Formats: sequence, structure tokens, C-alpha cells
Amino acid sequence: MVRFENVGLRYDMGPEVLRDLSFQIWPQSFQFLTGPSGAGKTSLLRMLFLALKPTRGLITILGKDVSTLKRADLPLIRRRIGVVFQDFRLLDHLTTYENVALPLRVRGKEEAEYRRDVVDLIKWVGLGERLNAPPLVLSGGEKQRAAIARALIDRPDILLADEPTGNVDPPLARRILRLFLELNRSGTAVVIATHDVGLMDQVEARRLVLADGRVTIYD
Ligand SMILES: Nc1ncnc2c1ncn2[C@@H]1O[C@H](COP(=O)(O)OP(=O)(O)OP(=O)(O)O)[C@@H](O)[C@H]1O
Ligand SMILES: [Mg+2]
Repeated sequence: MVRFENVGLRYDMGPEVLRDLSFQIWPQSFQFLTGPSGAGKTSLLRMLFLALKPTRGLITILGKDVSTLKRADLPLIRRRIGVVFQDFRLLDHLTTYENVALPLRVRGKEEAEYRRDVVDLIKWVGLGERLNAPPLVLSGGEKQRAAIARALIDRPDILLADEPTGNVDPPLARRILRLFLELNRSGTAVVIATHDVGLMDQVEARRLVLADGRVTIYD
């Protein structure tokens, strides 16, 4: 599903922040991506989401060599990758329902086709009471779950979540983790970037640990 071979990344003329990354992410797998602040978790996720190209090495995502992708190919591949950003990126002038439905609307789908799925998904993340609320009146944990629902609405093959429990208390963090595990059981590959050791200790899962620019894998 994803293959990195000797991947390195530097920003502008700076030092290499990631180097010699070689690993694979399998279909339907579940893993944590961890390492201290500044280790490069978000940078690695951005490469996985095709928002950033590596400065060296080979990345294959969903069967495509990233270096040969054309701009026109990106939307089709991105649609199969769900992303929960560290800062949510919800649109303030839209309700929870509209934010979650947005990826489908952008694709030109008719509301009658998706309304039911959007409402069901919002209920699944526990925001059934907040359907018509704009992000401004949502708590941090509610925004987090709205962002998760939006990442999932188009049924991606792989979900990338950047610190999805960074803004919530431990009970809600456990609940979010259970949602991700349930999603994974239904067939979606999941990558959770986190430095929350308490969260990782709750499940036996593969860990990709970043330190000094390199990755070490604990299966
Ligand atoms: N746009 C950028 N331009 C230049 N350097 C950057 C940029 N984004 C990140 N970096 C640098 O790359 C390194 C990795 O940053 P990154 O945000 O990927 O770390 P992180 O593991 O996600 O950290 P955190 O846990 O704090 O979110 C840091 O040294 C950071 O300063
Ligand atoms: Mg980060």
C-alpha cells in the first residue's frame, strides 16, 4: 500500500530532517508513528499525503511512484487517503454536517445521495447532537471528532491522523482510539502520529519510532 525506500527529506537548504527511511505500510494494518516533538512525524505524514515530495529516495503509494505523478493524478489518489490534521482545518462558516459532507460536495455528489451516510458517520463519532453547530461552538474534542468524520466520509483505504488525541482528556482519547480500531477492523489501514505513550500502551500495535531523522520499527 505504501513503500518507502531510502527516503530523505530536507526543507530548503536546511539539514536533512528525515533520512534513510525504509519501511512499508500494509493494507488493513494498524500502526503508531511516534517520536519526540520535532522528530518529523508531521513531515512524514505530509509525504504520505502527497503534500510534500522527498528530497531523495523512492516512495510508492497505492501502487504509484510518487516522483512520476502528475498534478492531475493527485486528486484521485488523495481521495483514497483520509487525513486528520493536527489543527483540524474545519471551515468556520460551515456546520459540522457541512464540514463532514464537504469532500463529497466538492466532488459534485448530490446531497440526496450522501445525507444519510454523513449523518450516520457523525453519530458514529458521537456528535449526533452537534450536527448543525459551527466549529466555533465545538469543544476541542468535538472538533477533533468532526475532523475524523470528515477524513472518513469518502471511505479512504488509509487513514492518517496527526496527534488525534492531543487536545482531549484521557477518557475521550480512549474513545477515539476505539473508533480507530473499529475502523481498522472494517478494513482501513490506520497510521496514528502521537507522542502519547499512555495511548500507545493501550493496544499491541506496530510502532514506527522516529529519532535523529531515522525510523526504527517495532512490530
Ligand atoms: N515548513 C517547514 N520549513 C522548514 N522546516 C520545517 C518545516 N516544517 C517542519 N520543519 C522542521 O522539520 C522538523 C520536523 O518537524 P515536524 O513538524 O515534522 O515534527 P513533529 O514530529 O511533527 O513535531 P510535533 O510533535 O511537535 O508535531 C523540525 O525540525 C521542524 O523545525
Ligand atoms: Mg507534528
